[in-house]
Amino acid sequence: MPRMPQWLETAVFYEIYPQSFQDTDGDGVGDLQGIIRRLDYVKDLGCTALWLNPCFASPFLDAGYDVSDYLQIAPRYGTNGDAKRLFEEAHRRGLRVLLDLVPGHTSWEHPWFKASMQAEKNEYTDRYIWTDCIWEEPAGCASLRGISPRDGSCAVNFFTHQPALNYGFLHPEKPWQQPMDGPGPLATREAMRDVMRFWLDLGCDGFRVDMAGSLVKGDPEGKGTVALWRDFRAFLDREYPDAALVSEWGEPDKSLQGGFHMDFLLPWGPTHYNDLFRCASPFFAGKGDASVFVEKYWASYEKTEKKGLICIPSGNHDMDRLARFIQGDSLKIAFAFLLSMPGAPFIYYGDEIGMRYVEGLVSVEGGYGRTGSRSPMQWDESENAGFSSAPKEKLYIPQDPSPDRPTAAAQCGDPASLRSEIRRQIAVRKTHPALQSRGEIRFVSDGAPGTPLSYERTAEGERVLVALNPADEARFCPLTGNVRKTLYQLGEAPAAEGGRLRLAPRSAAWLLLGESQ
Ligand code: NOJ
Repeated sequence: MPRMPQWLETAVFYEIYPQSFQDTDGDGVGDLQGIIRRLDYVKDLGCTALWLNPCFASPFLDAGYDVSDYLQIAPRYGTNGDAKRLFEEAHRRGLRVLLDLVPGHTSWEHPWFKASMQAEKNEYTDRYIWTDCIWEEPAGCASLRGISPRDGSCAVNFFTHQPALNYGFLHPEKPWQQPMDGPGPLATREAMRDVMRFWLDLGCDGFRVDMAGSLVKGDPEGKGTVALWRDFRAFLDREYPDAALVSEWGEPDKSLQGGFHMDFLLPWGPTHYNDLFRCASPFFAGKGDASVFVEKYWASYEKTEKKGLICIPSGNHDMDRLARFIQGDSLKIAFAFLLSMPGAPFIYYGDEIGMRYVEGLVSVEGGYGRTGSRSPMQWDESENAGFSSAPKEKLYIPQDPSPDRPTAAAQCGDPASLRSEIRRQIAVRKTHPALQSRGEIRFVSDGAPGTPLSYERTAEGERVLVALNPADEARFCPLTGNVRKTLYQLGEAPAAEGGRLRLAPRSAAWLLLGESQ
C-alpha cells in the first residue's frame, strides 16, 4: 500500500454532483462558483474533503462521464480559472478536493476518437481498441461499428457512446490486440498521466477514479490492471506524492495492491451493501438482516490485511436516495453506522438533509433510473429551493415537488434535524482515532434477525464499541469492556445487564471502553 496522505486518515467526504448543487448564473445548472459559495456549508457540516463528479467538457450523454476534453472545465460550470479558485477557496477552509478521473473511456466526440476513426494511420489510431475488420467485434464487450471510414469495430466501455481507451490486453491473441507495453497503450498511459499532471498542478488533491478496474482487457483477474495502476502510482509518488487516489473498483484486495489508498464498497456485486439500505426490508429500516453484509465485508476486510480502507457511501449519483427506503430516526441510525466504519465515509449531497428520490422523472443526460437521485439541492424555502434563479422549467432536473421537502436552512436551525445529528456524529468521529479510517474493526453482533449490529473499533490504545439497534424492540449484544464514557447516543441510553448491553428500540450508541471484561 502506498503512503497515505495524513489528511485522508481523518477525512469525511462530501460528494457534489456539480450540475445540481448551486447555480449562480441563472441557467438552471449548477456551477463551480456555486460550489465555492457553499463551501462554508460543507465545512460547517464537518466534512473535510469533496469529491466532484466530472466537470470537464462533454456532450453530457452520461452526465459528464463522457469527456470530450480532459483539460477543460465544461463552459456550463465555468472556466479552468474557476476550478483553480475553487481549489484555493477549499484549501483556505482546510477542505481537500478530489476530481473524477474517467480513464477508461472518452466521449465519441473526443478529438482523439475522431482522429482514430480515420482510415489513414495517425497519432490516435491505437488510442482506442479497434478490430481490424468491421465484421469482427471485440470479444467480451459491445462495440461501435459502421460509423467511420476506418475498417474495424471499436470496443466500448459503458454506454455505446463511450469508446474504450486502449491500455492493451494482458495476453494479446489477435493481431489487432496490443500488449500492455505496445506503443498505442503506452501512449494512452502517458496521455492519462498528462491529465493527472494538469489538474494536480492546478491544485486538486487527487482523484476518484471511475471504473478503475476496467482498463486492461482480457484480464479477468485484474492482474494487468493492478500492474497498470502500480505504474500510475509510481509516477504519482515521483511527481505528486501527496495525490490521493480512491477507486471505483469494488475489490479492495486488487485496488489497494494497485496503489489506491481506498476503494469504494459498491452497491452491486457480492457486497450486500443494499441489504442495509436499499431493498424490500433494509436492516436500517428495522426489520432486515445485516449478517450477510457483515460476512462479505469481513471477507473483503481480511483481504486488505485489516487495513479496511473501504469507503462506504451514504449514496451516490448512481444509487437510489437513501431516504427512498429509510426515514426518520432510522436515517440517523444509518449515519451512526456510516460515520463509525473504517475507511473514509462519503456523504452524497442532500443525503444529510434526507433529500428524497424524485419519482417519475424522464431521464436526463443518461441518468435513467438514476435521475431521481440527482435533483437539485434544496437549500431553503425561496424560489427553486434557493438552487437557481432560472424559471422552474429550466432547472437541470425537476426538484422534489412535495410541500414538506427538507431544506438545509430549516435543518441547520433545528438541533433535532438529521443534519444536526450527522454534524454531531462527524464531530465525535474527528476526535477519536479509533473511529477514523484506519482504526481496526471487529464485529461483536452481526445484525442477524433478532440481533443488533455491533462492532468494536480500535486504534492507538483506544476502544470504541458501536451498537446500533434500528428495530422496534429492544435488542442485546455482548458488552466487551467497561464503559468509560458515552461518546455519542441516539434514543434511550443503553444499559449494562450482566455481560450484555441492552439497546433500546431505535437507538444507537458509541461507547468508549476501558479494559476488557
Ligand atoms: C460509473 C459512474 O459512477 C457512472 O455514473 C457512469 O455512468 C459510469 N461509471 C460510466 O463512466
